[in-house]
Amino acid sequence: PASYEHILTETPKPGVGLITLNRPKALNALSSPLFQELNDALSNFDQDNDIGAIILTGSEKAFAAGADIKEMAPLTFSSAYSNNFIAPWSHLANSIRKPVIAAVSGYALGGGCELALMCDIIYCTANATFGQPEIKLGVIPGAGGSQRLTRAIGKSRAMELILTGKNFSGKEAGEWGVAARVVDGGKEELLAETLKTAETIAGYSRVAVVAAKEVVNKSQELSLREGVEYERRLFHGLFGSMTAFAEKKKPEWSHE
Ligand code: CAA
Repeated sequence: PASYEHILTETPKPGVGLITLNRPKALNALSSPLFQELNDALSNFDQDNDIGAIILTGSEKAFAAGADIKEMAPLTFSSAYSNNFIAPWSHLANSIRKPVIAAVSGYALGGGCELALMCDIIYCTANATFGQPEIKLGVIPGAGGSQRLTRAIGKSRAMELILTGKNFSGKEAGEWGVAARVVDGGKEELLAETLKTAETIAGYSRVAVVAAKEVVNKSQELSLREGVEYERRLFHGLFGSMTAFAEKKKPEWSHE
């Protein structure tokens, strides 16, 4: 396995890849070197036939406190533009085909909130702290927050949060549908619950799981009619795999 400086990777259960952001001194601030490692680890799990679901988490205190402000502060328009600063962050949303579940405890601010929103499912603790505080720094969300948060919670709430920089709690994230589940307790309980879901997903047919993620994501980009047609094409493409149910056998998925 690759050795990383800013993240940890492990396979805590068969079929489940776990990535832990690990820059404790900076509350997991998302620097470019950290993102390079994260993208590498995501790609490795995505390409690994033994892995069916990926979990992304941080520490008890911070999922991630944002993009690295110390790295960004000296940048100018021309340096950020010519290097396409933050573009590598899109790898998770654009290229990873297996489901990624964010397990959020502590701060998920700015880029940390945006990173969680790029994941396919969010689980969090009740006292997790989400927010897009960029306005307080004189900038705006730069990794999709204005788009994904708005799609997740609606325009009025997203506008209020992004314009005031006010945080919202894990409990609110659950109530508003940002998080699929709010887990009682701390990081340990959170991770245990997240692992159960990841194991369930990893137990299913890989090709069906990848297709299911793909079609749900299409709903965010296509018109209803195009989305339903897209779904039907992939649905037809999976035919031939339902025989076990009809024959009352336990399905055995080949995870190739
Ligand atoms: N970038 C760089 N370093 C950060 C950081 C960040 N986003 N967030 C925290 N750190 C560092 C602090 O500088 C501090 O380091 P030093 O000990 O070397 O000074 C260390 O992490 C611990 O932080 P604090 O002492 O501030 O911890 P705290 O418990 O008192 O406060 C906090 C926690 C409220 C999260 C506070 O750290 C904070 O407000 N962080 C910044 C949050 C923020 O504004 N995030 C948005 C960034 S902009 C962005 O993300 C753009 C985008 O859309 C992509």
